[in-house]
Amino acid sequence: MKILGGSGGRVLAALIARQLGLKATQVETRRFPDGEKYLRVGEDVADQDVVIIQSIHHQPDELLFEYFLLCDTVKDLGAKRVVAVFPYFAYARQDSRFNPGEAVSFRTVAKLLEDVGTAELFSIDMHQHRVGRASDVFKIPAHNLTAAPLLAEYVKSNVALERAIVVGPDEESEQWASAAAKVLGADHDVLEKKRLGDEKVEITTRSLAARGRDVLIIDDIISTGGTIIEAAKILKRP
Ligand code: R5P
Repeated sequence: MKILGGSGGRVLAALIARQLGLKATQVETRRFPDGEKYLRVGEDVADQDVVIIQSIHHQPDELLFEYFLLCDTVKDLGAKRVVAVFPYFAYARQDSRFNPGEAVSFRTVAKLLEDVGTAELFSIDMHQHRVGRASDVFKIPAHNLTAAPLLAEYVKSNVALERAIVVGPDEESEQWASAAAKVLGADHDVLEKKRLGDEKVEITTRSLAARGRDVLIIDDIISTGGTIIEAAKILKRP
């Protein structure tokens, strides 16, 4: 088995390879003067199971395209099977056509990932608000793991919370709030969120029993931070 990290996963690939008693395969990337990407896989991957680690955050188009090059290249070099690990999976938010003419980017990206030869994929807390399961979007086996219990374990060991309540900023976040609350032995609840624009949300509470308690807010994505800020503001309101 070979473990490869793209520009969005080099450190993690090295750590995972070490855990497995392996050394991550080098992937050289650079830019041609006109901005195109050059990529070279530094080892023979023929007949190998190849795991590609690539977190598609921050520069999603760039990192996705690099993944396409990497996956297609290792397949072309004779790799037996490519398993993708995307700690953060971009483009899952646009999972429906909310307005006429919009791209349903989640489905487009899923198709492209399959077309370049991805055999199976893993991600963590992929945004799946309207999509029930990853397998509703992908034809290949797709596994959506959650980090909520692990994050809650960390909070439990490192943060002193009094009469804790775990709060999700919207209805969909109930899944993470309940998972974290279970680990903490705490209550959980959710707020109500209305998105007013890419960077603006309106958050309201139902009757939430947060007064005088320590609150842990949990969500799947912090993008602009607007959701978390509005949630914190409303929870602090006297
Ligand atoms: C949206 O439904 C997600 O679960 C997050 O709440 C959202 O992506 C956070 O974005 P932002 O940090 O920009 O408010």
